[in-house]
Amino acid sequence: MKKLIRIALLAVLLHALLTVPLAGAADSTAPAGSATRGKDLYMKHVCYSCHGSVGQGAERTGPKLAPNPFPYAAFAMQMREPRDVMPRYPEKFVSEQDLADIYAYMASIPAASKDASPK
Ligand code: HEC
Repeated sequence: MKKLIRIALLAVLLHALLTVPLAGAADSTAPAGSATRGKDLYMKHVCYSCHGSVGQGAERTGPKLAPNPFPYAAFAMQMREPRDVMPRYPEKFVSEQDLADIYAYMASIPAASKDASPK
């Protein structure tokens, strides 16, 4: 099983190296991630409760995350060691791949989403 995961990760990495970054990607140095899986994780870890269902942010609970999320390194740091009141998401609960997927989801949110009603 571990080996399979390693092969899958390698495939993801290779894919990232071989594909041209998507136009409009927020941070082309970010690891490859699945926006679809990222969206599920964003819901599962209830990020939406503070940041809104499409990362639009809410006045009292959490800042806007999308469109144009800030650089991946800063995102990863905020998840592991939040700078203020946001809960911490250690690797035990949110793996490195989960981070990449959540970031891919945030980067995939188009600007118009802030006006869209929650689904
Ligand atoms: C309980 C509310 C809450 C939850 C749940 C939460 N956040 Fe946050 N988040 C915040 C607050 C408040 C901040 C402002 C900085 C701080 O408090 O550390 C923040 C800051 C951030 C930032 C930095 C954005 C900026 O412009 O400063 C990112 C990125 C982020 N959160 C992502 C996430 C993700 C992804 C999840 C789910 C895995 C999540 N947050 C879950 C409240 C929350």
